[in-house]
Amino acid sequence: MAENILDRFKENLEGDDIVEPGRTLRVGIIGTGWIAEAHMNSYLNMPDVEIVAGADIIPGKAEAFFAGYGVKGAKLFPSHRELIDSGRVDAVSICTYNTAHAECAIYALEHGVHVLLEKPMCVTLEEAVAIIKAERASGKILSIGFQPRFDENMKMIKNIVQSGELGDIYYIQTGGGRRRGIPTPYGTSFIEKETGGIGALGDIGCYSLDMVLNAIGYPKPLTVSGYKSAFFGTDPKTYPAHPEYAQKFGVDDFAAAFIRLEGGIILDFRIAWAMNMDTPGDTLILGKKGGLRIPSTECWNGSVGGPMTIYHEVAGQQVETVIPVIGDGGEDGGPALFDKKIRTFLNAVKSGGTAPVPSSQILYNQAIIDGIAKSAALGREIDIVIPELT
Ligand SMILES: NC(=O)c1ccc[n+]([C@@H]2O[C@H](COP(=O)([O-])OP(=O)(O)OC[C@H]3O[C@@H](n4cnc5c(N)ncnc54)[C@H](O)[C@@H]3O)[C@@H](O)[C@H]2O)c1
Repeated sequence: MAENILDRFKENLEGDDIVEPGRTLRVGIIGTGWIAEAHMNSYLNMPDVEIVAGADIIPGKAEAFFAGYGVKGAKLFPSHRELIDSGRVDAVSICTYNTAHAECAIYALEHGVHVLLEKPMCVTLEEAVAIIKAERASGKILSIGFQPRFDENMKMIKNIVQSGELGDIYYIQTGGGRRRGIPTPYGTSFIEKETGGIGALGDIGCYSLDMVLNAIGYPKPLTVSGYKSAFFGTDPKTYPAHPEYAQKFGVDDFAAAFIRLEGGIILDFRIAWAMNMDTPGDTLILGKKGGLRIPSTECWNGSVGGPMTIYHEVAGQQVETVIPVIGDGGEDGGPALFDKKIRTFLNAVKSGGTAPVPSSQILYNQAIIDGIAKSAALGREIDIVIPELT
């Protein structure tokens, strides 16, 4: 593969200080639904940002959204195309549902606009490759919206692994899930095939994958045997207030997989929006010298559920070292983490530096998600084949 391997280890998560404070960036928000609120709130906290445009394909939605924030002077458009074509923006947040991520990101990049793209990166591996090709041709910044990366606890996981304390890693169990937690607070965009594209597998599975793959340096995925199901999502009893949602459910609510990574590492994964269990288990990272347990949470969305524990030997004795939870004021993707996600993106745009969460890493995250879906459809293990990026 003709990519620069070193790209996968470069990231720029630090540096919350404003780069070039005197220079203002003109920003637009594409898709004005639920997560756009978090983007808007964070942009409003940034003194060097002018929010100059918004777009939504639902008539009147962008207008109501911007009016709610009292943002004046912004021009509103009926879709991403008109917004980008207006030439008003330096950068955009893409906050559309998953199936529109690729189209919007590619259009923005092809027109020379920097992109902060919500997670999951997209739906398929082919889309991810097309987005990265557009990114490389444009020379613009593309960052993927994984705010848990900015959580000090997540950084600690990576620090522990990279310190060598665990030795060579050979097995990882990760995932997470909810007993009942299919996301339909604002309608059905997460659960319909046409809009969500993928279910729990992409929505919260991408966080589990990023937590461990980022810690171990994003090795290339080689093979996958995947499974997915939708027993709860398709049951009208799951939605007492909206039984009709069951008919609309076209994605997965549970997925599991056994993945082989470069370097002989095994990744054992399971994720659930709904199941008859409290949690599918903690994340375990097993190394030749030590093992790390990362407690899961009730509502899995990429945060640690309690103190982590290292199981290792000291002077021949088996001992445990407890790593206390580090509070950083931004639990569960709250404002502090979102502000960091937005700030580091803006800084990268201004400095021409490295994207905080580079697509070259998330390509492998997406390749695993895509591989699980394809393997599950075939009912057997498959090779993960990542197309050339040149
Ligand atoms: N980072 C996080 O913590 C987090 C949390 C929730 C959701 N998300 C992600 O954010 C994305 C959006 O989620 P949501 O809950 O806001 O969805 P949503 O359905 O509430 O909003 C999406 C909006 O995008 C609009 N849209 C679709 N295509 C468009 C286009 N071409 N141009 C303009 N507007 C378009 C839709 O009409 C809709 O209003 C999803 O990919 C989701 O995974 C991230």
